[in-house]
Parts: sequence; C-alpha cells; structure tokens
Amino acid sequence: MTPKILIIGACGQIGSELTHKLRSIHGKDNVIASDISYNNLDIVNSGTFEILDAQDYTSVKICIDKHQINTVYLMAAMLSATGEKYPLKAWDLNMDSLFHVLNLAKEGFIKKLFWPSSIAVFGPTTPKENTPQYTIMEPSTVYGITKQVGERWCEYYHNQYGVDVRSIRYPGIISWKTLPGGGTTDYAVEIYHKAIADNKYECFLSEETELPMMFMDDAIKATLDIMDAKPEAIKIRSSYNLSAVSFTPKDMTQSIQKHLPDFTISYKPDFRQKIADSWPKSIDDSNAREDWSWKHSFSLDDITNEMLTNLKKKEVETN
Ligand code: SER
Repeated sequence: MTPKILIIGACGQIGSELTHKLRSIHGKDNVIASDISYNNLDIVNSGTFEILDAQDYTSVKICIDKHQINTVYLMAAMLSATGEKYPLKAWDLNMDSLFHVLNLAKEGFIKKLFWPSSIAVFGPTTPKENTPQYTIMEPSTVYGITKQVGERWCEYYHNQYGVDVRSIRYPGIISWKTLPGGGTTDYAVEIYHKAIADNKYECFLSEETELPMMFMDDAIKATLDIMDAKPEAIKIRSSYNLSAVSFTPKDMTQSIQKHLPDFTISYKPDFRQKIADSWPKSIDDSNAREDWSWKHSFSLDDITNEMLTNLKKKEVETN
C-alpha cells in the first residue's frame, strides 16, 4: 500500500515535525497537512494544507475522500494544563476527534491509524519508578482520562472491527522547532529558550520533580517505527509505554550550566506541580523494545547540546 497520509493537528509541536519527516520520506504530494487554523506558516507553505476541524466528522470524511487518504495521524489534542482550565472542551476535542477517525477506519475509509497516548494515563496511585506497561491507572487530569479512555476504545475497535490502530504513550517531548502548548512538561522546552534569551529561568515545577522525557527526533522515530512495523508485531493495541530519559529541573540546570555556567534557575511551582506529582518518574518500555525494536538515542546532555545549538542558530538567523 502506498501511504496517502493525512496529519490532523499538523501545526502543533509533534505534528509539525512529523509532517516534515513524512514529506521527506513519502513526497509532499502524499502527505496532506491539516489543522484548525493557519498558525504554522512553515507547514502551511510546505505542501498541501487543509483547514480542518477534527471535531467535524463530515469535514474529516470529505478531506479523506478528496485526497484518497489511507493513513491518518491524529495529533490534535488539548494537553494536560489547558485541559484543567477547560475540562469539557478537552473531553469533547480529544474524544470526538478520536471517535471520528476510529469510525472512519471501521467503515474502511482509513486503513492505518496513529493516535498518541501519554504518560498522563497514569495517576497518583500508579507505581512511580519504572512504571510497568500493565499497572494501576487512575489518572487525575481530564487529559489523562481522555487518553486512558481513548486507549480502551482503540483496543476495542481493533478487537471488534479489526481497525489497524497503533499508539504510544509519549513522555514530555523536547524540541526547538515548534513550541509545545498547554502541557505540564512544557517547562523542559521553555528552560532552553530562557537560558538563551535571559540566562535565567523561573520554573513552574519544583527542583526535584522527576518526569520521563524524550527528544523530538526520538519521538518521531518511535512514531515512524511503530507505524512501519508489521501488524502482527503490534501486540498491544491500547498503547505502548515509551521511554528515553528521566530528569528533574535541577538535572536540566546542571546540564545547561555545562554550556552556560552563569545560568540560574528559581522555582515557583503552580497548579501544574500537582499534575506532575501524579505522573511516573520513569517508565518501563520493554514491550516496545521487544515487539518493534524501539531504541532511543538522545541523553539529557545530547538534548541540551541540540537545543542550545539550534536555538542559538535560529536566533542568529532571525536577527
Ligand atoms: N506533554 C504532555 C503534557 O504535559 C504529556 O503528554 O500534558
């Protein structure tokens, strides 16, 4: 099957880099980007782009028909911190969009579907260290609830209707091209921007808050790897634990200080601290490593190096 791909939520942090990567692999005519608005001109101007409301079933179906799409990446979602401000909106966006694509796959209009889950499926009663694939899951955020319920529906649609849906539980994703929006792990991107701009950062999480994190290149690789795997290799049809590195704001500070010795950090935890405290510190992703040979590449110091180098370059180019 030659993939004819639709990315929903292509202007976001992960969607934008996934769009570029998929276009470089399959050619820009085979990868249609879509989002609710033109808020990432780089994506809008780099190939076919459609304005698409992921909550509107008819529009999604028309777009799929028009471009003869067979593969969909549903990257639109409201993340954990924003979701706590607009709980019902988060529920509606995250669930409506998933049901639309699951139903289109059930009807045969989509052959293969990627839908991201998150470490937010875990909650305060989950074991925090090396969190297993199968464990207690009592998420306390609306975002986490939508992801946990979504996982159940993905597995159900696979078992009942044979839908080829594949999913991973992303940790916090760190990247320099497109900013994240509305997540609890966003501090781990902001810190690099502020390090370059001001040589200091006020962190909204406390210094010892340890969370699972990953560099964007690893996240994109995992996404492509699971989508390229043979269907029989994908033994988990809810969502796979996925892990790379775990660290605290204090660890990040030390890593940044290797490049910028005068960089300082202060701490002013806000409502996001409670969310972070409910999530695992580290993740056991041995199923992903065994089933489809997942392997990460970037350590914290590698990430710091990439972030500072590329953000500095970007700053020079824009000045
Ligand atoms: N990065 C997400 C968030 O912080 C977690 O998946 O909400």
